[in-house]
Amino acid sequence: MTYKSMPKVELHTHLEGCAPPSFIRGLAKEKSIDISGVFNKDGTYAYRDFDNFLQVYEAACTTLQGPQDFYRLVKAVLQESAAHGVVYQETFLSPDFCGGGDLAAWRDYLAALETAAAEAEVEFGITLKGIVTCIRHFGPDAAKPAAICAAETFGDFITGFGMAGGEMVGRPNDYAYAFDMAREAGMPLTCHAGEWGGADMVADTITDLKVQRIGHGVNAIHDPKLVAQIADSGIVLEVCPGSNVFLKATGDWADHPIQKLRDAGIKVTVSTDDPPFFGTTMTDEFDMLAATFDWDSDDFKALNQTALDAAFCDPTTRAKIAKRLETQ
Ligand code: HPA
Ligand code: ZN
Repeated sequence: MTYKSMPKVELHTHLEGCAPPSFIRGLAKEKSIDISGVFNKDGTYAYRDFDNFLQVYEAACTTLQGPQDFYRLVKAVLQESAAHGVVYQETFLSPDFCGGGDLAAWRDYLAALETAAAEAEVEFGITLKGIVTCIRHFGPDAAKPAAICAAETFGDFITGFGMAGGEMVGRPNDYAYAFDMAREAGMPLTCHAGEWGGADMVADTITDLKVQRIGHGVNAIHDPKLVAQIADSGIVLEVCPGSNVFLKATGDWADHPIQKLRDAGIKVTVSTDDPPFFGTTMTDEFDMLAATFDWDSDDFKALNQTALDAAFCDPTTRAKIAKRLETQ
């Protein structure tokens, strides 16, 4: 039994982290860029731990050198996602990797990203929306231009603001200025927290950055009061179990807290994060949840609905995707 063909809604992916290894190798060859060290002998991405993952990620990103490369990336990524039944995907995009935080350059990249997304919608039947992210380990000063890029381009395609990168750099409040800017522009917010940081990091992220969603959030499980608070508040967790298991952010699948978080009344969703880096796909995520926790098609329908309700898209898109889910 596999859930490969079931329609799926996915909220937490990093665009460059979805790049098929062959795509990055192809770009490197075209441009004669030396990316030795990025790949294992068998062609998979090579890294030792999360910090080294971020370094390898950035090394792979050096092959993406202009809007046209990002256009091709979006097409390659969405073809792959659509093959696993994903009908709606949100992806983190960083102005730091798309023009270095410069607003004019960011607009050029964005035009290419949007064109690719519009074409992929017709060709592969998948809708993409972008969430602008600042990169935490680039520091609070770099977060401000990212937030300006986000606020200035908030609209049909750019639907939210968030933060990725090394979670243990600084405290959430150090990034409050950037999040305040995005919130004042009317943007919904999400932030990685509680993947590497403890329950306190999740709590501070909620208090100081006033987010609607948390990326990962799994370490909230260690604080029952916080679990109850998240459940009451309706804050949604973008849980990425395959990523957590692969990176050893949690124990193995059987010990993954997603079941307990869900049982506590928290709105959980499921995503792949950086699928080729972590050897996963949305099909694998669904199939492993079915195998580990006995989730059935009713559970996955409810999961999709929770994700669609928490999506940062406009009402027209939400209604369109709801119709696609009716076929599940
Ligand atoms: N976590 C945090 N930052 C990231 C990731 C991730 O999985 N991928 C790319 N940037
Ligand atoms: Zn992530």
